[in-house]
Amino acid sequence: MTERLPFPFPVVTWDDDQVVLIDQTRLPDELCWRRCDDLPKLCKGIVDLAVRGAPAIGVAAAYGLALAWRLARSAGDDPVALLERLKAAAEILAATRPTAVNLFWALDRGTALAARLVAEGKNADEIGAALLAEAAAIREEDVAMCRTMGRAGAELLPDYATVLTHCNAGGLATGGYGTALGVIYAAKEMGREVRVFADETRPLLQGARLTAWELADQGIDVTVLCDGAAATLLRQGRIDAVITGADRVVANGDTANKVGTYPLAVMANRHDVSFYVAAPASTFDPDTPCGDGIEIEQRDPAEVLGFRDLRWAPEGVTATNPAFDVTPAELVTAFITEHGVLRPPFVDSLKPVLAR
Ligand code: MRU
Repeated sequence: MTERLPFPFPVVTWDDDQVVLIDQTRLPDELCWRRCDDLPKLCKGIVDLAVRGAPAIGVAAAYGLALAWRLARSAGDDPVALLERLKAAAEILAATRPTAVNLFWALDRGTALAARLVAEGKNADEIGAALLAEAAAIREEDVAMCRTMGRAGAELLPDYATVLTHCNAGGLATGGYGTALGVIYAAKEMGREVRVFADETRPLLQGARLTAWELADQGIDVTVLCDGAAATLLRQGRIDAVITGADRVVANGDTANKVGTYPLAVMANRHDVSFYVAAPASTFDPDTPCGDGIEIEQRDPAEVLGFRDLRWAPEGVTATNPAFDVTPAELVTAFITEHGVLRPPFVDSLKPVLAR
């Protein structure tokens, strides 16, 4: 086991004018950090999944803007010119991963703040400090929202509940507390016993590596299963609820999340098990009407064909590697949000989280 982290986890922090990430590519074997003192290093950290999970990517991007502002000042301190450089940096950060809407939400929030302060005549120092404070605020707000939604979600569970989850929607994927796993942590804080089955989550094993690591770290009973074993657990009546996170929930409630979520929702529906999506308002996208409009990240086929230097598929064979899939809203029992538990019809109930 690695050393213990404080909780909520310090997933993205700022130290010595650098953005510091827990390097999630190394977990659970090693707890180590990536220090990003320039934008290319931070972008690589996002693309490599050193920092991953929709809310955590948003926090990293917000700190990326503070970093970009600081670095741009080597070319001069004119706030109007710096704002142009900040917008260029935001475009570079926005190109790292296409699916999680929190990335674009955080970049819009930071650039809008800087534009307002430039218009108000603030100087470069004041705007740089404000961008840093905004990034910290985004992280702290996320923790607070996750605690609130965690308590709302915990009320849905019976005592001694068994929950099935997919990917990692925990502290590591957020400002530090977790969305789907936040429900588990809140239930524990409320004195409830909860047991978790964690899909391993092919191909990059966020479930087996990260969900299992953080739940065990927090003293939660966790069992890893192959993604393909979930249907049988559901059929056997061994699961009280499925809870996942989301990368983007669009206006009609269609939900993009880690590939494998859609089949899990179909199976939960087939076996009459509630399928909950836990997500803060920053994960909701009011500008996209339905799931067909969500861009799904396609990743390197090598992630499916092998691992590091080991290739298990035959040479000459390729793979398809969509990182996410879209679960139709009709399969979602309810969204667990900081505005409470939102049930169908989603056209009415999602209004508070779609308001920007
Ligand atoms: O590719 P990843 O690891 O960034 O995918 C993460 C997920 O799919 C999570 O379930 C989602 O971002 C919700 S995190 C609270």
